[in-house]
Amino acid sequence: MAMRHGPLGYEEVVELALYDPGLGFYETGGSAGRGGDFLTSPEVGPLFGAVLARALDSWWDELGRPSSFTVVEAGAGRGALARAVLAAAPSCAPALRYVAVERSGALRANHPDGVESAAGLPAERFVGVILANELLDNLPFGLLERREDGWAEVRVTGDLTETLVPAADAAESRLAPDAPVGGRIPTQRAARAWVETALGLVLRGRVVAIDYADTTPSLARRPWAEWVRTYRAHGRGTHPLADLGLQDVTCEVAVDQLPAPASDLSQAQFLRAHGVDSLAEEARQAWQAGARLGDLQALKSRSRAGEAAALTDTTGLGGFRVLEWVCTE
Ligand SMILES: C[S@@+](CC[C@H](N)C(=O)[O-])C[C@H]1O[C@@H](n2cnc3c(N)ncnc32)[C@H](O)[C@@H]1O
Repeated sequence: MAMRHGPLGYEEVVELALYDPGLGFYETGGSAGRGGDFLTSPEVGPLFGAVLARALDSWWDELGRPSSFTVVEAGAGRGALARAVLAAAPSCAPALRYVAVERSGALRANHPDGVESAAGLPAERFVGVILANELLDNLPFGLLERREDGWAEVRVTGDLTETLVPAADAAESRLAPDAPVGGRIPTQRAARAWVETALGLVLRGRVVAIDYADTTPSLARRPWAEWVRTYRAHGRGTHPLADLGLQDVTCEVAVDQLPAPASDLSQAQFLRAHGVDSLAEEARQAWQAGARLGDLQALKSRSRAGEAAALTDTTGLGGFRVLEWVCTE
């Protein structure tokens, strides 16, 4: 790592660890999925996409069923959500242009037919929705630590050890006024900038981000190793500065550092509002009707009931936040 300019901020180190073309976790084979490193809601199975397809229909209705309805899924990974949304055949399908945006070329190569695959957000504004599942937690973040004499920024030296320097940004230092000495907070400029850019792109519609989230004052009271997490091969990884590029590095999203959302529901509440229970019940009935025959459809139905439980479990994926921002002309 080039250290000519002195210690790097955590943001720069996370950027290298995740996205450097030669070293980055996501550029060198890391991903969500059963065969990957961690499981996300779209990778649990197709039910999450089936419910999202219903949500997209309700947002399309709300917009007056425009003849062109663009859905941009940002941080689309291998395209599991795109695949499931299209397979659910939403009513908006004739109007739908689905753009799967994924930074990693290795992951883009898996995107399904029927979606536009892109490395970055579109340049033109559009009517529709920008969706991001577990993107914000994967954007580079900085770290501050409360000391007796004020806030310090955690920076990283050439031998990958931490060093503390006085924090430069006064506004960031005011994010958690009651933080205990030794407490840490993330600074999430990249996540904030991403939401602001997304809001600028949607002429009419919504920006929807789904992620594990908390607030900065609450994060300051929790051990930082609890909210900066690393993953590899379906287990927790090591210290974020160890094994650079070999593990995912993520940070819980500090909602108070983002533009204020119009709605903030748990994933369980959001999925229920968009019909997860009726989809699971239909599946349960189909399973009971077909169970004796043990056919493939019956097995799929049984698996759907299990998916619903996993997606709405409030101690796991169901406890994620679904943040919605509404854009009007
Ligand atoms: C935790 S994964 C989530 C993948 C998928 N959304 C899911 O839920 O399974 C985050 C993904 O976001 C991608 N990513 C990170 N920054 C990005 C950016 N600025 N634009 C597009 N994709 C990005 C990463 O490469 C990675 O594939």
